[in-house]
Amino acid sequence: MSTLDWGLKNRLSRIIKTDGRTVMLAVDHGYFLGPTSGLEDAEKTIKPLLPYADALMPTRGIIRTSVSSSTETPMVLRVSGGNSILDEDLSNEGLTVSMEDAVRLNVAAVAISIYVGSPNQKETLLNLTKLVDEGHRYGIPVLAVTAVGKSMGRDARYLALCCRIAAELGAHFVKTYYCDGFEKVVKTCPVPIVMAGGKKLPEMEALELTYSAISRGAAGVDMGRNIFQSDSPVAMIQAVKAIVHDNVTPKKAYEIYKGLKARLKSKKSKVKGVTASRKELSRH
Ligand code: R5P
Repeated sequence: MSTLDWGLKNRLSRIIKTDGRTVMLAVDHGYFLGPTSGLEDAEKTIKPLLPYADALMPTRGIIRTSVSSSTETPMVLRVSGGNSILDEDLSNEGLTVSMEDAVRLNVAAVAISIYVGSPNQKETLLNLTKLVDEGHRYGIPVLAVTAVGKSMGRDARYLALCCRIAAELGAHFVKTYYCDGFEKVVKTCPVPIVMAGGKKLPEMEALELTYSAISRGAAGVDMGRNIFQSDSPVAMIQAVKAIVHDNVTPKKAYEIYKGLKARLKSKKSKVKGVTASRKELSRH
């Protein structure tokens, strides 16, 4: 890491905090899934969560339409795509954003999916190397996302292979799934690993998953649906943060979640009450 250029290191340090940890909020789903549940109105979903995220992972379309330009939260910009959920084989991705536009958007990092063992493995890996070369030219770190094809297993042997390849090809940090033997995946990867959230789980299970990944060496999470599809997204992101940055247990984090959820709910109903009585008064 010490051999990296100052600008690249500085950008990375905005994402991965001084404790070596990060809570990234993934909201890039639409690039191949379209209007994902919870992100139909992206601006409305992102706005209250942004102050709690160490970094946001959007597409450039979502940055420009749905994120305030005055935010201090660093952006990890999704720059691969070209596929859609309608494809049989999702691995047919190319680069979708030039490094010039990434610089224009003042992003802290760029993110690309790699599909190891899939029909387009070579192309996605060469896209990664191209991006790393350009990232070094401009001082922008690259996050490699180990996308898993529909037919691939998510075991430690496979994920360790993907993460190591990503790091060998120059990725500055890697996003991968949790699995049994996750510590092996972390130990054999020389760059930080953030855990991908995956499909929505009950809150307690998502917190347990976060704890398992952190206690086995993950540098944090890059979580989407388990936060923005939660009953209380603002409470959930703070509970996840408590595990990632304060090492609290899943049980304690769940208590934090429940407490914040209740407080936010009563605040909302008070605001509703005030609005209703104002309307009532204005009628008289
Ligand atoms: C994965 O390839 C994309 O970045 C996803 O949109 C993102 O990882 C999804 O996050 P989650 O699985 O936590 O909803």
